[in-house]
Amino acid sequence: MIDRFWAKFGKPSSDSVHTLTKDNMPKHVAIIMDGNGRWAKSRGLPRIAGHHTGMKVVKQITMAADRLGIQYLTLYAFSTENWKRPKAEVDFLMRLPQEFLSIELEELIANNVQVRMMGYRDALPSHTIRALEEAIARTADNTGLILNFALNYGSRTEMTDAVKRIAEAVRDGELKPEDIEESTIAERLFTNGLPDPDLLIRTSGELRLSNFMLWQLAYSEMWFTDVYWPEFSESHFHEAIAEYQRRARRYGGL
Ligand code: IPE
Ligand code: IPE
Ligand code: MG
Repeated sequence: MIDRFWAKFGKPSSDSVHTLTKDNMPKHVAIIMDGNGRWAKSRGLPRIAGHHTGMKVVKQITMAADRLGIQYLTLYAFSTENWKRPKAEVDFLMRLPQEFLSIELEELIANNVQVRMMGYRDALPSHTIRALEEAIARTADNTGLILNFALNYGSRTEMTDAVKRIAEAVRDGELKPEDIEESTIAERLFTNGLPDPDLLIRTSGELRLSNFMLWQLAYSEMWFTDVYWPEFSESHFHEAIAEYQRRARRYGGL
């Protein structure tokens, strides 16, 4: 079984000791990529050095997810609360998508990866949006891994906006309150059409959601590690998935 699995998906590039089974792969993995600043500080480097190294890890984990046959990878890159940071750090973060895509887009295309973005686009600098929109357009027909960047994303605003749109539909006579279902809400979130994450990973030792996918994570398995994002490796990723595969998801049943 395992041999056949690796024959199809290829061996991991790192020495992973974790046994994974193909049958029970999470379809959608979401990651809160945290700890860039602390990683840098622990090495006497500026925080932005952590973000820069973290960008390289994005590529490694994207490829690792692709090799495993995971269908959706959602990465929390910038929250609606991260604007509170010093302007220089925010400016650096807003330049990273461009840098990442200028280096990696061709390889993402070669690997049939489809790039998407969820979050509030209007507040993003035009250079950031331009780079992302180019990547989204050039990969729109790709049928492999969906790489979904959460950028200027905040879950409470996302839900508040969904509620506003529902209220407007009711006001305009397009929707009856008694017809509002869970799907009425889900369809108005950025994740419309995406399955809920099966597995949430957060690095850096923080045990919180920080306004990430509060609706969508209702029944996700969660896995936390003390490892800072710039040190997160394919082997850690496999460790998370191996743990996921050992869990019993019950959804309230038996
Ligand atoms: C995660 O690392 C990246 C972003 C939030 C943009 P941090 O920058 O939060 O790093 P820490 O948590 O301060 O170490
Ligand atoms: C969450 O990390 C946001 C991202 C990883 C993009 P933060 O570092 O912003 O979260 P808090 O402030 O520690 O909750
Ligand atoms: Mg942080």
